[in-house]
Amino acid sequence: MNAAAAHPSVEQKVNKPIETFRLETAPSSRALRDALGAFATGVTVVTARDAGGRAFGLTVNSFNSVSLDPPLVVWSLSLASPNLPAFRACSHYAVNVLALDQAWLSQRFANREDDKFAGLETADGLGGAPLLPGCCACFECANEAQHAGGDHLLLIGRVERFSRFPKEPLVFQGGRYRALRDA
Ligand SMILES: Cc1cc2nc3c(=O)[nH]c(=O)nc-3n(C[C@H](O)[C@H](O)[C@H](O)COP(=O)(O)O)c2cc1C
Repeated sequence: MNAAAAHPSVEQKVNKPIETFRLETAPSSRALRDALGAFATGVTVVTARDAGGRAFGLTVNSFNSVSLDPPLVVWSLSLASPNLPAFRACSHYAVNVLALDQAWLSQRFANREDDKFAGLETADGLGGAPLLPGCCACFECANEAQHAGGDHLLLIGRVERFSRFPKEPLVFQGGRYRALRDA
C-alpha cells in the first residue's frame, strides 16, 4: 500500500456534509439547532425544592460529567426559565436520568405546566430535591458553582449521592426520542 492510500487526505476522509454554514454569513439558529441535534444524548429531569417547599424541575439534555475527583457534573439552564432564581438559590438538585419508558415524563417536564409533579410518587433527596421513580440513575448534587454561558446559565453540581438502576436509557437525537442499539 502506498503512503497516500494509508494516509488519505482530509478531503478523502471526511464525508460530504449535508450542509455547511458560517455563522457570520448564515446566522440561522434553526440550522445550528439541527446540527447540534445530531449529537445523541440521554434525557434527564433536574429537580429541586425551594425554601418554601415548592418542588420544581425541567427536562434537560445538556447534562454531562465533568470530573471524577472531585465528582462534578454540569448542565445548562435557559435564562428564560421562570425557575432560574430558584435554581440559582437552591442548596441541592437531583439529576434524574430517564429510562426508555419515560418519554412521557420528559414531555411533561418540558412543558410549562402548573404542577409537573401531579400524581408522581417522589421521594425527597438531599435538600428535599424530588427523586423520580423508575429512572436509570439519579445524581444528587450540591449546587457547587454557576457560570455565565450566553443565553444559558451553566450549573456545576458536586455529586454527593447517586443511584443506578437496571433499566435501558431514553435517548434524544435529531429532535426525537430513541432507543439504544449496539453499534
Ligand atoms: C429533550 C429535551 C431537552 C431539553 N434540555 C434543556 C436543557 O438542557 N436546558 C434547558 O434550559 N431547557 C431544556 N429543555 C427545555 C425545557 O425542558 C423546557 O423549556 C421547559 O419548559 C423548561 O421548564 P420551565 O419553563 O418550567 O423552567 C429541553 C427540552 C427537551 C424536550
